[in-house]
Amino acid sequence: MADPGPLISTRQVQRLFVSPAETVRAVDGVDFEASAGEFVCLFGHSGSGKTTLLNLLAGLDLPTAGSVMVAGHDLASISVDDRIRLRRQELGVVHQAHLLINEFTAAENVALPMEANGVATATAIDEAEKLLTSVGLHGHGARYPSELSGGQQQRVGIARALSGGRRVLLADEPTGSLDSRNAAAIFTLLASLAEAGTLVIVASHDPNCQRYATRSVEMLDGQVVGQVVGQISGKAFGETVAP
Ligand SMILES: Nc1ncnc2c1ncn2[C@@H]1O[C@H](COP(=O)(O)OP(=O)(O)OP(=O)(O)O)[C@@H](O)[C@H]1O
Ligand SMILES: [Mg+2]
Repeated sequence: MADPGPLISTRQVQRLFVSPAETVRAVDGVDFEASAGEFVCLFGHSGSGKTTLLNLLAGLDLPTAGSVMVAGHDLASISVDDRIRLRRQELGVVHQAHLLINEFTAAENVALPMEANGVATATAIDEAEKLLTSVGLHGHGARYPSELSGGQQQRVGIARALSGGRRVLLADEPTGSLDSRNAAAIFTLLASLAEAGTLVIVASHDPNCQRYATRSVEMLDGQVVGQVVGQISGKAFGETVAP
């Protein structure tokens, strides 16, 4: 079979924030490629450009210069509607706070993106229950976010991000509000999703991110300054991490 090529790539992508006082070079000439089945950890000091780069990859922000390609589409040259559609079909985003809708059950939250893609509610809820099972939340679909722990809420957020068969999961500090045990469990889950073929890209300060990732990319002052391929500690998937 022909090499499907990278699911996401950037070419000399740049994002400047210009104000009368200063110009911030938040992302400054990044070439990046990632393919299905990879778990890429973006790391680097606070302010190094990780969130800005993730937002560009997600099409939530557009570059000042350079390009971002997702599944063969140049995000800057397609219409706003096509960008929204592409995000709904291919890109799931997870934030530090889960951002679930509190009035909806876990299953309803996960079903929402599928319903937005035109899937009938009953089918979407069935699929949502399967996705919840795949993130370790079998039987929790009828609970509201307030009835779930922080780690469980984040799992629902991950299930929602993958809802509708999306192939790319972008996560910004997904374990930032979790204790170390729950954080390790989330990284284990993300690694297993990548093993199953999802492209997972995570910005994180947590050293576990680099332990579980298949590739770690270091940012500094908006640039990629280093890359390590392979899990840096050599630790096997699924091992627990001491709290
Ligand atoms: N909307 C904005 N306007 C002006 N400057 C911004 C804006 N967003 C980000 N920046 C600046 O761009 C740089 C990169 O910020 P970014 O949020 O991408 O860093 P980060 O690596 O995600 O940091 P952290 O680890 O703290 O989350 C920082 O200097 C930040 O102050
Ligand atoms: Mg950030």
